[in-house]
Amino acid sequence: RKPLTTAKMRKMKQDGVPITMVTAYDYPSAKLSEEAGVDLILVGDSLGNVVLGYDSTLPVTLDDMVYHTRAAVRGAGNTFIVADMPFLTYHGSLDVTLKGVARLMQEGGAKAVKLEGGEEIAATVEAITKSGVPVVGHIGLTPQSVHQLGGFRVQGKSSEQAEKLMRDAKAIEQAGACAIVIELVTDELAAWITKELSIPTIGIGSGVNCDGQVLVFHDLLQYGSASAPRKFVKTYANIGEAIRNGISSYVQEVKTRAFPAPENTFHMDNDVVQYLYG
Ligand code: KIV
Ligand code: NA
Repeated sequence: RKPLTTAKMRKMKQDGVPITMVTAYDYPSAKLSEEAGVDLILVGDSLGNVVLGYDSTLPVTLDDMVYHTRAAVRGAGNTFIVADMPFLTYHGSLDVTLKGVARLMQEGGAKAVKLEGGEEIAATVEAITKSGVPVVGHIGLTPQSVHQLGGFRVQGKSSEQAEKLMRDAKAIEQAGACAIVIELVTDELAAWITKELSIPTIGIGSGVNCDGQVLVFHDLLQYGSASAPRKFVKTYANIGEAIRNGISSYVQEVKTRAFPAPENTFHMDNDVVQYLYG
């Protein structure tokens, strides 16, 4: 199949066809996501929490992102892959920002980059877009600002917050972004933003009225997820339990010498055994 384009994404919004996105960080998860028919893969910096074991996305480096993007691209060569710009790699000089973008595109093989923030990063989004790189925005709960936001709580409940988030969304659209992730925002506000924008909104924890949805591979499959299940995540399989059961059976069979069995074992020819051991 042909990978999605930014034009097709926009058309899907116009036609009311929901856009599916999965956050995946490596070859098998990206490959399975592509085979399952997801429209977009995000190599998210949530990899810091989910597969590197950090307690936030702040320690994730550009090197980490390049490494994981390459692996995901190898697994899903026919999918539009977006890579996150990590913490504090797009707030200094434009030169440094564009070098980071170049690494994700050239070394990583991403087709687009995602940046967290609203009005305050609109000029940066515009500069990256003008360089020919599609940009996905990300507003609402922006995990790279967790210490400023004071924790992981639902955004856009008050009218002040709602108006600020609407300004952010419009600024990012105006700057040329091809889509925007809306994280942990009230259903009403996400619906309003979705209606006001002509670029697709991709929601996580932001209700059913966004143009698309994104969930983390490990969360939707209960695959070793670090955090307790959250209200906005729906689990569609319990891979973690299947893995734990499988490994525990392996441990038992080694302890009882049930594994390796004859069918897993190699032998010398009989005459060689005779010759060596009589
Ligand atoms: O890093 C990530 O997985 C994300 C999504 C949750 C939008 O940014
Ligand atoms: Na992210």
